[in-house]
Amino acid sequence: MRFYFATLFPELITPYFDASILGRAKSEGVIEVVVENPRDYTTNKHRKVDDYQAGGGAGLVLSPQPLFDLADHIRQQDPDVHIIVATPAGKPFRQNDARRLASKRSIMFVCGRYEGIDERFIEVHADELFSIGDYVLTGGELAALVMSDAIARQIPGVLGNEESLEGESFGSEGLLEAPVFGKPNNYLGLSVPSEYLKGNHSKISALKSRLAVAKTRFHRPEIANAVVWKDKR
Ligand code: 6GU
Repeated sequence: MRFYFATLFPELITPYFDASILGRAKSEGVIEVVVENPRDYTTNKHRKVDDYQAGGGAGLVLSPQPLFDLADHIRQQDPDVHIIVATPAGKPFRQNDARRLASKRSIMFVCGRYEGIDERFIEVHADELFSIGDYVLTGGELAALVMSDAIARQIPGVLGNEESLEGESFGSEGLLEAPVFGKPNNYLGLSVPSEYLKGNHSKISALKSRLAVAKTRFHRPEIANAVVWKDKR
């Protein structure tokens, strides 16, 4: 998978893919990261990327020309690139989107700044608009990093252990993940649930399934209420 990022601040994106799991995926060639700056595609003398809003209003808008030319350039090398615009006005990004998008060959994230992106770019080039939550960030970069991270870890070969995708939060059951414990079995008088320590894997998994339900009811009652129960818990 190739990830493109269109951003006025490439330095916000690049280091994220140089560490940890995504750093290894990149050096192994499982993912590729290309960061493009719309400023490099400007045709005006001062390399200006923004302008006042038509009709007035506070704040500047990213002008269409650099974004259109950048998108044309990317489409030349990658005709079926999937273009995602990161904006608080998009639909909420969910785990299902991460799973679905992991099978694309290439994705470009367009990161807005200022008051937004000229709507004509969105109309002509955007395949989808996503928000990562109901709050406003200073730009789309963090959101694009969040989404690309969630997508990348769904790509075979990115996580060392494919099993880590199983039983995690927002999995097939739509629940939060059951609590996990490590060593020691007793820490400051706080013990790991004894069932976890007895090695009966069907009992452990039955308990984990009940704890996943309890935890979801407690932390995210709206998710628990929406789950279609396959059995009575
Ligand atoms: Cl995608 N962009 C910005 N600027 N703010 C956000 C967001 C995106 N998602 C939530 N807040």
